[in-house]
Amino acid sequence: MTRTILRGRVLSFLRTPRAVGDVESYLYLEDGAVSMKDGLVEAVGDFAAAETAGAVIIDHRPNLIMPGFIDLHLHYVQSQIMAAYAGSLLEWLNTYTFIEEQKFAQQGHADAVAVDFYDALIRHGTTTAVAYCSSHPRSVDAFFAEAQRRNMLMIGGKVLMDRNAPEGLCDTAQSGYDDTKALIARWHGRGRALYAISPRFAITSSPEQMEMARTLVQEHPECYLQTHLSENDAEISLSMELYPGSPDYTGIYEDYGLLGPKTLLGHSIHLNHRETGVLAETGSVAVFCPTSNLFLGSGLFDRERLTNNGVRVGIATDIGGGTSLSMLRTLDEGYKVLQLRGQRLNPLASFYMATRGNAEALGLADTIGSIAPGRAADLIVLDAGATPTMRMRHATITTLAEELFLLQTMGDDRSIAEVYVAGARAKSTLVGL
Ligand code: GUN
Ligand code: ZN
Repeated sequence: MTRTILRGRVLSFLRTPRAVGDVESYLYLEDGAVSMKDGLVEAVGDFAAAETAGAVIIDHRPNLIMPGFIDLHLHYVQSQIMAAYAGSLLEWLNTYTFIEEQKFAQQGHADAVAVDFYDALIRHGTTTAVAYCSSHPRSVDAFFAEAQRRNMLMIGGKVLMDRNAPEGLCDTAQSGYDDTKALIARWHGRGRALYAISPRFAITSSPEQMEMARTLVQEHPECYLQTHLSENDAEISLSMELYPGSPDYTGIYEDYGLLGPKTLLGHSIHLNHRETGVLAETGSVAVFCPTSNLFLGSGLFDRERLTNNGVRVGIATDIGGGTSLSMLRTLDEGYKVLQLRGQRLNPLASFYMATRGNAEALGLADTIGSIAPGRAADLIVLDAGATPTMRMRHATITTLAEELFLLQTMGDDRSIAEVYVAGARAKSTLVGL
């Protein structure tokens, strides 16, 4: 198979950057070469030293080559209800979301949405995402089949929900278990697909279903578990009414054995001291969803408190509660949320979070999230001068950190000049880009 070399400025993180000046935390090449073969990165280094004989060279100078973005929490079945006018979480779920997700019972609907969803994901530079499908198994089949067609590493699962939602969306504890077993057998480890056992949240799962989720986690330690935690005050109160025996919201999931290093907890905003300790002890991941938390008025994620207490943290769009599929827009809103908390996130740390940080949260840092020999060639090319307004600011920039901050503050899908999935061009080849 041919070897392809991408030429351009190259940035890839080695660990969390502690400050803007923390140059040891990343690899940066001013005139770099990323050599790709058979879907993997074969070598990375200075272009002048690269073995170019027999290779196809694609010149991306002066743009910046980085690992593709990783989105730790979204609902692909909500792609068509972004920007739904609702007061807060429970109203939004009942008025729009549960209505929309029922459409996925129809033959063909999921297949059509999946195509548009993946096109949008690629346009925005996201090469891996962790997704909730609807409660209908066919929505999961469409999700993974389209990922496989595009050779993308995607994680997802059928939502488990057996109460407090329209009948057309509810499974039962038994059918949810059976469907999940069949879907894991069909998809987990097939190509690049990985399965996430997905009880929606405590409100929509009965104690019987939570027991079944426990069994699924025990029977499938190779799979992820994703759910929602402490997003909104009314949600927390109702959850505690439904599970009066648990000490707090985190305690509900703890009581059913659902916490651990492969557990992704969307939102995790309003946590008490005990809950933070439990998340840290179990190695569970708190997922920051800034555009969604602001849009639904849910609250301000306390990143510093969580990380200072040893909780693993990731970042995500949470489409359709979130308002953009762009991880650049997400980093921007995340920065603003933390500003309101008096916490400043430096731009290197932001881009680390959206790439290697999220890969580490998934335990997949050996595969995705950085540019190194043997890693997947899932890459993006970023243009910090993509729009006339960005170019005005770009003309005054002198440092890498300033460039990243411009990208996250003013950038969107227009700043994603190209995307490579497993070494193949994926953005410029989209139809009707
Ligand atoms: N909690 C339970 N389901 C959902 C959902 O679909 N979106 C958000 N933002 N929170 C949830
Ligand atoms: Zn969500």
